[in-house]
Amino acid sequence: MSSAAPKKKLYIKTYGCQMNVYDSQRMADVMRPLGYEVANDYEGADMVVLNTCHIREKAAEKVYSELGRIRAQKDSNHDMLIAVAGCVGQAEGEEIFRRAPYVDIVVGPQSYQSLPDMVGKVRRDRGHAINLEFEDDKFDQLPGTHQTVENGAAFVSIQEGCDKFCTFCVVPYTRGAEYSRPVADIYRECMALAAKGALEITLLGQNVNAYHGVDIDGNVWDLGQLINHIATIPTLKRIRYSTSHPRDMHDSLYGAHANQSKLMPFLGLPVQSGADNVLKAMNRKHTRKDYFAVVDRLRAGNPDMQFGSDFIIGFPGETEADFDDTMDLLIKVGFIQGYSFKYSPRPGTPGADMEDQVPDDVKSRRLALFQAQINKQQEAFNQSCIGKTMEILFDRPGKYEGQLVGRSPYMQSVYITGADKSLLGSIATVTIRDAHPNSLEAQLV
Ligand code: SAH
Ligand code: SF4
Ligand code: F3S
Repeated sequence: MSSAAPKKKLYIKTYGCQMNVYDSQRMADVMRPLGYEVANDYEGADMVVLNTCHIREKAAEKVYSELGRIRAQKDSNHDMLIAVAGCVGQAEGEEIFRRAPYVDIVVGPQSYQSLPDMVGKVRRDRGHAINLEFEDDKFDQLPGTHQTVENGAAFVSIQEGCDKFCTFCVVPYTRGAEYSRPVADIYRECMALAAKGALEITLLGQNVNAYHGVDIDGNVWDLGQLINHIATIPTLKRIRYSTSHPRDMHDSLYGAHANQSKLMPFLGLPVQSGADNVLKAMNRKHTRKDYFAVVDRLRAGNPDMQFGSDFIIGFPGETEADFDDTMDLLIKVGFIQGYSFKYSPRPGTPGADMEDQVPDDVKSRRLALFQAQINKQQEAFNQSCIGKTMEILFDRPGKYEGQLVGRSPYMQSVYITGADKSLLGSIATVTIRDAHPNSLEAQLV
């Protein structure tokens, strides 16, 4: 394509997890050689991609209502292509064409490398195109090496898919079997990002600490080894990983948390429930005691460790006593952050067919109690930070003139005022002056 050719507008709307954010960038990469430039809205778009999430019922329904809105745009621009990507695409497949016949393309998370061909086919034949293959060359064809680094923070997918089959979860069905990228590919990508100014890299995977990628000699590495390897990149200052499973903690990862100063002292470690019989019904493969043991060992290695978690409230069979166990675990671990959701039965998962589904009003009541407690803990931790000195990576401008917002080592939002914009994308030392429920106010040292 000559450089004089008019650019086409591509709007990608992303739902769900961080891996979808990463994948959306890769879709933009693969469409760029065809003349598509990323746009910030639907206005005048030549192509719209919804990169979707299927994790809860509401997430999937949002996609259909969004499609309804896009349809109105397509009525005034018949050439506009509409693609449904991501986990709803994978799970619903042809059903999407039935419910929304104006959709042109359905593509699953493992097939984004085929997007340009699918676009070509649809433009030529005016029909539908669908690809739900689980191909294993996704990352070879779609490395994240080309991504731009905005303001110091970058993400790298290192692992995808899941073999654990928790009974509530769609991920093993939408993302397929566990796959780990080779060590050298990941390292190359991290080097490229660091060269573009990345100070912090978050390693991503649906089950990221199950990572088992090979090096050039065919040896299998675990996540702890990989983190220590990436940490040798001199300009890279911070490493995080998400999302992990308590079962896949291993010696070298404990070691990295204890000794690798670039690995941040905050870990999101989903527990889902604090009651053993619920954990068992969820097929989580860990007990409440196991979870405490993981937390204790991490804290023994690094007393500054803080934890976040994911919780499902009202899984089938959850009694009042089980819920109390979850509250008890929340308090005893002292989580400073928690994503909590009412259990949402997903068709095709074992949980959906279980008896003893918890009535919605009970789920709502328990969730409200739970969230009040986690908010209290989060605020208490924020308060405890007043007067402390911390290193903040400033990664975005604030709402007000002269305001900059960044992340503390513990993922808190920290803002400063009257600072120079040139601080964006750098790490600076601040003193915490004040604390709010969801943020900290700071002053440069
Ligand atoms: N791999 C991670 C979680 C991935 S899914 C783990 O092992 O925990 C992200 C989060 O969505 C989960 O932690 C869970 O809390 C939530 N979730 C998944 N399925 C759900 C469902 N059916 N209903 C409500 N929340 C769900
Ligand atoms: Fe889903 Fe995580 Fe369980 Fe895998 S380990 S099935 S991604 S909740
Ligand atoms: Fe959602 Fe798929 Fe991620 S279901 S949470 S987009 S793996």
